[in-house]
Amino acid sequence: MGIERVIDNTTHEEDAEEQVIEQSLRPTTFSEYIGQERLKKNLKLAIDAVKKRDDGTALDHVLLYGPPGLGKTTMANVIAHEIGANFRVTSGPAIERAGDLASILTNLQEGDVLFIDEIHRLRRAVEEILYSAMEDYKLDIVIGKGPAARSVRLDLPHFTVIGATTRTGSLAGPLRDRFGITHRLEYYKVPEIEKIIERTAKILNTPIKPEATSILATRSRLTPRIANRLTKRVRDYADVNGDGIIDEKIAKEALELMEIDSLGLDPADRNMMNLMLESYGNRPVGLTTIAALTGDEVTTIEDYYEPFLIQLGFIEKTPRGRVVTEKARRHLEKQS
Ligand SMILES: Nc1ncnc2c1ncn2[C@@H]1O[C@H](COP(=O)(O)OP(=O)(O)OP(=O)(O)O)[C@@H](O)[C@H]1O
Ligand SMILES: [Mg+2]
Repeated sequence: MGIERVIDNTTHEEDAEEQVIEQSLRPTTFSEYIGQERLKKNLKLAIDAVKKRDDGTALDHVLLYGPPGLGKTTMANVIAHEIGANFRVTSGPAIERAGDLASILTNLQEGDVLFIDEIHRLRRAVEEILYSAMEDYKLDIVIGKGPAARSVRLDLPHFTVIGATTRTGSLAGPLRDRFGITHRLEYYKVPEIEKIIERTAKILNTPIKPEATSILATRSRLTPRIANRLTKRVRDYADVNGDGIIDEKIAKEALELMEIDSLGLDPADRNMMNLMLESYGNRPVGLTTIAALTGDEVTTIEDYYEPFLIQLGFIEKTPRGRVVTEKARRHLEKQS
């Protein structure tokens, strides 16, 4: 078991309150969606072109990739909203058999957006059906069994797949090729995170002072989901220990209580790097070894710990494993 993380970066499906808040904070239009300017520009152009043609062609399939919590699901939702299409949601692991995908596809309407989350986890057999569906809006199905079996080709409505993944590396080449628009979501800039925190505080009806906003922004790992989560936690702290207003003092106290340091690292990050340093010094450590050291899954290390630590220059990927950098060592020394 790893340490339970104050600022983990997953959505907690089982947490009903969290779900409601995530829903209420989720932007639904381009103008509410802060940052990712290049992506927005490209998408707006593509959407305007489709609207202008108005000949029944659907928007090109869109693949969004990048670390968790940067707004892939949110953007998919915004796209559907902006083109005025239905938003259908599924995910790689949820589509177990080819038949499941066939029934999703045959229930689509003209112009629908089909969002496939964790698209890198689609099964092979399912993926193959998706190829021709995406390419020429045809569905090949086999009816009957044995010698009587015959294959039929069904026409599908023109629809748009939006795929989301934290890793394009795990996506089969032929699938990747079927997306007309592929875009990596980048970490946000601090001023963008500040805007997101201000917006969130406003939706939560919590007054926040600019100094507090800027402290929270620098500790949010340049990630909207974490910015929202920290704002919520600090709001709770302000309600209990103050008068409900988030000011500098309240923000600092709450962050200290959560053991989130000046760069937004939490005890789990620091623990992982300290363990790597204690056992291996500045030599590379393999992913499975790191997972064994912390008691996490390999994918947790890869998807949740590592990306931001690499972004900070605290971890380097080498062919022989991960190395904790001198920069990280200096930061860790200051914390202890
Ligand atoms: N550009 C943005 N502006 C404002 N809020 C945002 C933005 N992007 C994301 N958010 C907020 O952050 C939360 C997390 O975003 P989202 O669920 O879209 O991330 P994701 O990339 O799909 O993550 P995962 O890989 O875990 O599925 C959302 O609930 C939303 O409120
Ligand atoms: Mg998502």
